Parts: sequence; structure tokens; C-alpha cells
Amino acid sequence: MRALKRALVLALSAAMILASTVCMSGCGLKDGKRIIRIAHSQSETHPEHLGLLKFKEYIEENLGDKYEVQIYPNELLGGQTKVIELVQTGAIDFVVVGTPNLENFADVYEVFSMPYLFTSEEAYHEAMNDVDYMRQVYRSTDEAGFQVMTWYNAGTRSFYAKTPIYTPDDLKGLKIRVQQSPASVNMCNEFGAAASPMSFGEVYTAIQQGVIDGAENNELALTNNKHGEVAKYYAYNKHQMVPDVLVGNLKFLDGLSEEEFEIFQEAALLSTEIELEEWEKQIEEAKETAKNEMGVEFIDVDVELFKEKVANVQEEMLADNESIRELYEHIQTINEKHMAESKNATSSKEGK
Ligand code: GCU
Repeated sequence: MRALKRALVLALSAAMILASTVCMSGCGLKDGKRIIRIAHSQSETHPEHLGLLKFKEYIEENLGDKYEVQIYPNELLGGQTKVIELVQTGAIDFVVVGTPNLENFADVYEVFSMPYLFTSEEAYHEAMNDVDYMRQVYRSTDEAGFQVMTWYNAGTRSFYAKTPIYTPDDLKGLKIRVQQSPASVNMCNEFGAAASPMSFGEVYTAIQQGVIDGAENNELALTNNKHGEVAKYYAYNKHQMVPDVLVGNLKFLDGLSEEEFEIFQEAALLSTEIELEEWEKQIEEAKETAKNEMGVEFIDVDVELFKEKVANVQEEMLADNESIRELYEHIQTINEKHMAESKNATSSKEGK
């Protein structure tokens, strides 16, 4: 099955690269319409797929005489490091990837790999929903030939494994899969585990076969990706909120008229709205399913112990890479605002 999938990926990628290099115009045409291809790593029920269906619907409703949007889920065109290259060359037009995959192209994205960067979900959402501010960040990969259009919520990441994790000491000696970026590897090693970077689609089999002991992700990975079948302990240490992003080939985006670009931008923002709504619904269902149907034990750990373990990482990353400071400080301001608000809310409740 895996070999078949790999052969299919190779054949499709080769055909697309060929198509994008051989014919400079009139390629990817079907019935006179330009085909727009979007690749992502999730299943067809995942919030991101549902968001992308909205993207497709909006584009085709408004520009249907010119464009047809095709969505390729389940890493069908390859893992995230691979598809980002396909979008770079223009073999495909859009991909959804986690920000760690962009760190090799623009340092600024390292910020999101910092452990305990956001102090609340509210702060995370406020920072990411600030479209004007984020557009400056999104332009940072222009030189690499692609640009981020919008973000998708990918929840809060915690560790899960075949053995229970109660404190950071329980991570010692465990081989834990992380996303393929140096900052993700460093973060995991600082927690005391041995980081094992690999693509998302390989994680299930790697845990099942004992190549790794566990991974770290949001709760949907347990159900949607079935990791809960092979790893039964999920520790709520909540070390990261790492967004996913919709990335578009810059040449394609620059080739659009102003009106068309506007429609693509609106479609992207609408896809985020749908994704965020679906996320809230599905994440609650995922917890129930993982617990009741898959027998996953959710462990409420003392998060402070985990924070202490990586207390120096943010400062070390800032010292190594000045270019992340501005975004980092912007996020700190948002964190502080939300911390002050929740403090006020608590004290006014106590005052009653
Ligand atoms: C989440 C995230 C993906 C990412 C994956 C991973 O599912 O939404 O974009 O690829 O985690 O850990 O690789």
C-alpha cells in the first residue's frame, strides 16, 4: 500500500513538474479553465479540508468561467517538505503546511516553534487574526517564490506515547517524532526526549513498529490520523500552538488581476472562518472519541514543570536569531493584554 502510494506520488509529481516546465502557457487547462491544485496532509473530514472546500466554492462561484479548484488531501502529493517545493516551482499552486516547514525559507517563522510562546488560546487567535500585521510576516518568503495567504488553527500540541507521561522525567530516553525543522528538534531535545523528525504520514507506522515511542500534536492526530490506536497516553503539557498556513505560488498570485487577487484573498479568509468553526466542534468530539472509543488516557500534568524544563529556550532562540524579535515582542504585547484581562475578570468575580 505504501509502495503504491509512493509510486503514485512520484508519478503525479513528475507529471506536474513536467507540465509546469514544458508548457509555459495554456497548461493545467481543462475545458479552457485553469486548474488550481491545492495539496494538504489531512483527511477529507478534517477542518482544513472543509475550509478548503469553501475556498474552492467561493473561487468557482466568482471566477468559475476561468478556474477550477482541485484539492489533494492525505499527503497524496507528498509530505509537507516535499509539497512546499512543488509550490515553489509552480508544479502546484497552493499547499497547507505547518509553519515549521517555512523556517528554512524565512527565519521569522521560528517564532511559532518556541515552546510556550502564546500564553492563551485567546492571545494566539488574536495574533493570527490580525490580518494587517500578519501580511508583513507572510511576505517574508517572497524571495523563495511563495506567499502565505491565511492561517488555520492547528490547536495546542502536547506529548503522547505508548507509556504514561506525568512529568518531564518521563520523557527521558523516549524517541519522540517532531515536525521537520531544527527548532522543533531543539525544542523536543530540551524537554529531555530524543527528537525524531519525520513527515506526518509516517508517524502511525513508526509508533506501531516501535521505531519511535510517541509524538506530539493536537488531539485530532489521535482520531483523524488514528495515532490513538497505537499510543494510549496523552499528557496535557500544552507546549505549543503552531499554526498551519495556506501558501500560494507567488508567480501565480502576481499574475492575477487586482480583482481576481481580491477574490482569492476573500476565499482564503472565508476558508479560515470555516476551519476555525469546524475546529471547535471537532476537537471536542476528538477528545470524547479518543477517550471512550480508543481507550486513550488523557493525563492532566503540572504544566509548570514542563515550562521550567524549557525556560531558557525562548531567550536562546532570540539570541541566535535577531530577526524573530519583532514578531516575538508583538506577541508578548498581546499575551500581556490577555493576561491582564483574565486577572481583572478573576478579581472582579472574587470581589462579588
Ligand atoms: C498537525 C498540523 C499539520 C502538521 C502535523 C504534524 O496535524 O495541522 O500541519 O503537519 O500536525 O505534526 O506534522
